Amino acid sequence: MSTDSAPKKAFIKSYGCQMNVYDATRMADQLAAGGYTMTDQPDDADLVVLNTCHIREKAAEKVYSELGRLKGVAGRDNKKAPLIGVAGCVAQAEGEEIIRRQPRVDFVVGPQAYHNLKSLVADAEQGKKPVATALDDDKFAGLAKPARRAIAKRGVTAFLTVQEGCDKFCAFCVVPYTRGAEVSRPAADIVAEAERLVDAGVRELTLLGQNVNAYAGADGRGGRMGLADLIGRLAAMPDLKRIRFTTSHPNDMAEDLIAAHGEEPKLMPYLHLPVQAGSDSVLKAMNRKHTAAAYEELVARIRAARPDLALSGDFIVGFPGETDADFEATMGLVERVGYAAAYSFKYSPRPGTPAAGRTDHVPEPVMRERLSRLQALISRQQAEFNAACVGRTLPVLIEKPGKHEGQWVGRSPYLQPVHLPQEGARVGDIVDVAIDAAKGNSLFGNQVFAERSAAA
Ligand code: SAH
Ligand code: SF4
Ligand code: F3S
Repeated sequence: MSTDSAPKKAFIKSYGCQMNVYDATRMADQLAAGGYTMTDQPDDADLVVLNTCHIREKAAEKVYSELGRLKGVAGRDNKKAPLIGVAGCVAQAEGEEIIRRQPRVDFVVGPQAYHNLKSLVADAEQGKKPVATALDDDKFAGLAKPARRAIAKRGVTAFLTVQEGCDKFCAFCVVPYTRGAEVSRPAADIVAEAERLVDAGVRELTLLGQNVNAYAGADGRGGRMGLADLIGRLAAMPDLKRIRFTTSHPNDMAEDLIAAHGEEPKLMPYLHLPVQAGSDSVLKAMNRKHTAAAYEELVARIRAARPDLALSGDFIVGFPGETDADFEATMGLVERVGYAAAYSFKYSPRPGTPAAGRTDHVPEPVMRERLSRLQALISRQQAEFNAACVGRTLPVLIEKPGKHEGQWVGRSPYLQPVHLPQEGARVGDIVDVAIDAAKGNSLFGNQVFAERSAAA
């Protein structure tokens, strides 16, 4: 039962990348500090925030259809329609236009401005329609610290944004416009946040950045620290068991970071290293500033440091001007490199990006056909990678109960979900699991009790 004096409830829905997922947790912390509790039902909320993504046209359009649906929501106990806020990259890219297009929206807040969320909500409550899209480098300093209980509720794995923005300006991409220039958080801030997370039960951290391997944060001694050194600092925390990072650009893969894959046992053998295309002329037109051969050579060096590395990537098919031969070059690269997982997309023209102005767009049916061929190849490679894990014993971090009674779900070092019977282990434990089957994207097995493998 809720009364008018009951705490207000907020519902946040995130689209897009992990950075948005992280931002949503920080927004929830802001709102909690302002007296809100979270709900997972928009119908039950006094405040609804859509944390949006602008990367492809479909992602951006989803927001308007969701807003159309929300327009009719009656609010908690059918009493008062909720306040509606739009956050994230669509907010940054479209600003006031969102309110013009959907007047039911009460406020707009970009990814670099949500430390002002409390006052924006207060203004919105008074009927003002605030729009906050300034790119403020100092956002983190103004954010409420997450409460221990909130961290614990989110589980044993957590995201931690260490770097934001992008200076690469790939010709197709909106990120440099929506997230601004590359900025790295000071190492001490990151370590303090990591300590807080680990103290509340987090055992695995994924360090985030649009170009996370370009990390160059203040080291507290007047200099700058790279990602490998930051990982080393975090790895010194005894209760932090696993470290991952995403997303990396091939041109920012420093030697010490490559070496860390062989030397730092807490750094998991999974690397998301997008190449986008396998044709040098397409890569050049994309402004990627590396060739296909340089990428393959880089992958070989990382694999020399960590032979069992699970490699993941992103691909765009149908970039303007892409010929059949260009596309075959992408297929050839995928065949040679071998991926444990990869994401692939049809090129989507984005307003304001250089590629959108080109006139040699690839017809939709051609893109569709290329995408389905590429995805079939990637699925085959993923199935092969997973099948090769059968018969091995892998250390699995137990994350939560599975869908079936008496079952746990955890993750292998290679990020595969692993299902196992609940026998003694608890959430947060790392247990050795003898893998006996691979189905879809998941592995299945049983805990090994006798000997522990050296890999744990
Ligand atoms: N910072 C990351 C990726 C950010 S966006 C990186 O540099 O790799 C995630 C992926 O979306 C990109 O890697 C790319 O494959 C895809 N993408 C970005 N813009 C796109 C567009 N206009 N059309 C289709 N896919 C796009
Ligand atoms: Fe976008 Fe390229 Fe920057 Fe990645 S590196 S965020 S694809 S501009
Ligand atoms: Fe989307 Fe913004 Fe992430 S455009 S992919 S939410 S950086």
